[in-house]
Amino acid sequence: MPTDQPIIITIDGPAGTGKSTVARLLASRLGLDFLDTGAMYRAAAAIMIDRKIEEEDTGTLVSTVMGADLHFDWSQDPPTILAWDTPIDHRIRHADVTKVVSFVASIAELRHHMVRKQRVIGAQHPRLVTEGRDQGSVVFPDAFIKFYLDADPEVRAQRRIDQLGMDTSEISLEEMCRRIVDRDRMDSSRSDGPLVCPSDAIRVDTSEIEVEGVVDLLERRTRERIAATLDNGR
Ligand code: DC
Repeated sequence: MPTDQPIIITIDGPAGTGKSTVARLLASRLGLDFLDTGAMYRAAAAIMIDRKIEEEDTGTLVSTVMGADLHFDWSQDPPTILAWDTPIDHRIRHADVTKVVSFVASIAELRHHMVRKQRVIGAQHPRLVTEGRDQGSVVFPDAFIKFYLDADPEVRAQRRIDQLGMDTSEISLEEMCRRIVDRDRMDSSRSDGPLVCPSDAIRVDTSEIEVEGVVDLLERRTRERIAATLDNGR
C-alpha cells in the first residue's frame, strides 16, 4: 500500500448496516484516518436541543452550529468530536438526538456547511475512510473507491437494538424496524444530499455477513484497485 499517495474511501448506506464499525476497522487495517460524518449531524442536533433552538428557526441553528466550529480530536481512536472546543461524544448518541437528527440533516443550508467542512477535512487528511450518506455521491465524487452498504430492515433493526444494549421487552423488533424505515425514507427523500447508491459504488449486502467478513471484502477490493492503478501507471 503506497504510503505517500492520497486515497479517499467512501462508505455510504442506511442506518444499521455497520458502516461506522466497518469504516473504522478498514481505516485501521489500511493505516488511514477515519471520519464519521453522522457524528457532525448528530452534534448539530444536540446543539439544537441543548440551546433550545426551535425547529423552524433554521437560520439561528445554522449560525450557532457554524459558531461551534465542530471539529475532531484526531489524537483519539476513533477521533472524538468537539463543539466550542468541548468534547460532545457522550451526548450525540442519546435518544432525543437520534429522534431529531434526520430532520436536522434535511436542512439544506446546514448540509452545505457540513459538506464544505468535510471537504476541508479531506484536504487536511487526504488518506481517509469517510462514512455517511452522501460521501461518494456529493462530498467526494472523485473518491478512489466507493462502497455502499445495505442490509434487510429487520437485520438492521436487530443490530440497532443490540447496539443500544436494549432487549425486545424495551422496544419490539417491529417498532425498531418501523423507525429505521422512517429514517431511511427521510434520508432518501430530502432534496439535498439524499441517501443514494452512487452509480460507481460497489454495493455490499451485509445482511448475512459478520463485520469482519465485510471488512475483509472491502479491504480486498481496495487492495485490488490499488494494484490495478499501480499496474496502469507502469
Ligand atoms: O450514521 P448516523 O446514524 O450517525 O447518522 C445520523 C443522521 O445523520 C442520519 O439521519 C443520517 C444523517 N447523515 C446525513 O444525512 N449525511 C451524512 N453524511 C451522515 C449522516
